[in-house]
Amino acid sequence: MATPYVEQDVSAVSQMISALEAARKDKRHGGFSCKKTTFKVKPSRDGIDVDSWRMQDWDYKKKGLPTYARGLFTTKNSRNAPEIAVRGYDKFFNVNEVNETKWDVILKNTKGPYELTLKENGCIIFVAGLEDDTLLVCSKHSTGDRSDVELSHARAGEIRLEKQLAAVGKTKGDLARELRSRNITAVAELCDDSFEEHILAYENDKAGLYLHGINLNLPEFATYPSNLVQEFAAQWGFIKTDLLMMEDVNEVKTFLEDVAKTGSYSGRDVEGFVIRCKMSHNPTQLPYQDWFFKFKFEEPYLMYRQWRECTKAMISGKQPKFKKHIKITEEYLMYAKKQLAANPNLSKLYNQNHGIIKLRDDFLAYKNIKGSDAANLDVLDRVVMTEVTKNVILAPIATIGCGKTTLALALKHLFGWGHIQNDNISGKGRPPRFVKAVMDQLKEHPVVFADRNNAQRHERKQLIGDVKAQDVETRIVCLNFRHDEETIDEIRRITQERIIERGDNHQTIHAATDQEKYMEVMEGFIKRFEECNTNSPPDAGFELVIDLDPTAGTRVNLETLVNELHLSLPNVVKEVPSPEKLDEAMEYALGYTPDFKHTIPDRGGKKDSKAGQRQQQQAQPKKKKLEYMAIGVATDLINKILDKAFKGVGPETSRFYLQLKNSRRVQRAFHVTLMHNAMAPQYPELWKRYVELHEAAGGGDALLGECDVILERVVFDDRIMAIVVRIVDEENKWVCVNRVAHITVGTRDASVKPKESNDLLAKWLEVGAGGDGNVIQEVVFADKVTARGQVKGVLSR
Ligand code: GTP
Ligand code: MG
Repeated sequence: MATPYVEQDVSAVSQMISALEAARKDKRHGGFSCKKTTFKVKPSRDGIDVDSWRMQDWDYKKKGLPTYARGLFTTKNSRNAPEIAVRGYDKFFNVNEVNETKWDVILKNTKGPYELTLKENGCIIFVAGLEDDTLLVCSKHSTGDRSDVELSHARAGEIRLEKQLAAVGKTKGDLARELRSRNITAVAELCDDSFEEHILAYENDKAGLYLHGINLNLPEFATYPSNLVQEFAAQWGFIKTDLLMMEDVNEVKTFLEDVAKTGSYSGRDVEGFVIRCKMSHNPTQLPYQDWFFKFKFEEPYLMYRQWRECTKAMISGKQPKFKKHIKITEEYLMYAKKQLAANPNLSKLYNQNHGIIKLRDDFLAYKNIKGSDAANLDVLDRVVMTEVTKNVILAPIATIGCGKTTLALALKHLFGWGHIQNDNISGKGRPPRFVKAVMDQLKEHPVVFADRNNAQRHERKQLIGDVKAQDVETRIVCLNFRHDEETIDEIRRITQERIIERGDNHQTIHAATDQEKYMEVMEGFIKRFEECNTNSPPDAGFELVIDLDPTAGTRVNLETLVNELHLSLPNVVKEVPSPEKLDEAMEYALGYTPDFKHTIPDRGGKKDSKAGQRQQQQAQPKKKKLEYMAIGVATDLINKILDKAFKGVGPETSRFYLQLKNSRRVQRAFHVTLMHNAMAPQYPELWKRYVELHEAAGGGDALLGECDVILERVVFDDRIMAIVVRIVDEENKWVCVNRVAHITVGTRDASVKPKESNDLLAKWLEVGAGGDGNVIQEVVFADKVTARGQVKGVLSR
């Protein structure tokens, strides 16, 4: 490729300067404002002056400017002719920042090759040659020394340059002559933590001048193709800027949107990309010209910047201000505060932009979390305590029969955690002894379930107060069995029903023997219930609150709880057990019978009377009924197909899927429901047949048969997502009674039940996907995949 060369045209340059001059003197003249600063170029023999021209950022968006160069220095040569000494890039904009950088305009008006360079993160340095072979080194708008004590950007760049030239056996004069003979400005990024830290780390051999462009010194923008830039970099000892070439603009868009999801590329956090290409404002009529746009990643970059600013505010005794990433930033600041207090020198260095990255990385390491994940946390505003591995206390706020003990037993079965039942403690001074028993168990178990109702605030106060008074650093997780006005009657009904069924099977409440008395006790708990309020003491003392629903059944609450613990205490619940494991734990827990009984007077346990009458009872295993028939489909396959399908679509379309994934609301196992027992009245024959087939196969989760399932498309709104499938079953043995056979992929939160897929798909049949004001979207699978399905019965809980 020929090296572009165009000589400066004196009249064009002088026209440009006059227009800038006019705008400087009279803002209204050109509709933009312009500032000129004159610098004496020190090392030059003849005392050459250069003028720096600076416009306001927003003025670059205006039409008809004499030049769009950002970073422009002019001078006069010995013949008194004006010339451009340094020429930066045309100001370029972020995607969507101006009309030209809207994707649809980019798709239409640009052509390749597209050169993508990492947006290096330092300060820009321009290098050019003057007439007398002086090498002119400038930062964006200035050159020379700032003061005697402080190193200017331009000067720091020059020192770097001297080093790199020496390494390739060349002088500043050589480089000045070369640049001048080509009529070019070399544009580089000075990235050097030893001089000044920005947001990303550049140390040792990573530090230096990254050459990323070479511009012709002309009013209009003309720049070297990247291969020539890289060649030049190699010749003159610059560090090369990494480059990606793409021919297809759609490929560019997909690539950028993909990297944006994490904000990191080839293993490091990046600020964004600059994309170089050719653009015509009207490709059929106007020629293409060199044109740049940028694609800046929001996160974790913005979060890091926020941390830096907040840290500086804190150091100077001001209140740090921040609006995003609230929780993690608060935690970071707490951490930073401790570090700064422990090391007084750190503050001073930090203000000079040293140690910024280390402090941030130390915090992330302490939290055991990646920057991109930390930036994602407040999507859910979730508390995440990655540093916690033990000393966790689970403390319910509940009433009688909410399923506390059942839940505790299931957890004990799953994870081997500790469990202290208040009901097993009798005699005097129960509250402190209860706490003591919990603390004792923490010595052997990472988590202990403190099984007590804590329905009233004073009970929580005692629990939290006594726990926090210990030497051990604990985290108390509140299992908040919500008692809302709308559900209170339902809670009453369900818990009473359970207790009646439980009969004598409890330490303090012997339902079958004195029903009336304990109904009163139960009602007393509900009446005295004081709801959780984390804005004030004592509930503010909980490190984490997990909402549970007393009407939902313990299996649901168990799942909610382990999911939430996994997300908030990822190093306590390292992975979520399979649904089968959860089922098994429930089976164990529901079969439990206490082996300790004592009687208490009316008010649920103030004073204990004769305690410890031991009674052995047999567990009553409940007979479980067939709840629904389903075709199970391999989890991996479905996940793979979904990942693939949502990869090729825009962020609007993939948003909900990513939300489900990030909030771990994608089902862990997938099935097509054939029929639920709730439909038995409508299809009595079919249900009877299914029940018989199930029993004939041996019940439980026995395999009833196999069939193929064709996956067609995925349909979703902002609440629920389902895959529309076709069941291939020539004998018509596996009849699906749902209007549209489907696999529910996931729901937004626990309040949206999987069966609502039916409503979604009914609406989809009616109005279709897409279109104005329609929230239903679909992605049709490019290749129809056939999955092998396994027909099984699923038992009720
Ligand atoms: P107290 O200790 O009396 O305050 O109650 P608790 O909150 O510990 O409730 P527990 O776990 O003892 O549950 C009460 C009864 O309901 C027990 O017989 C459980 O076996 C039963 N039970 C718990 N969860 C469920 C459930 O999800 N479904 C059904 N059907 N029964 C449940
Ligand atoms: Mg209990």
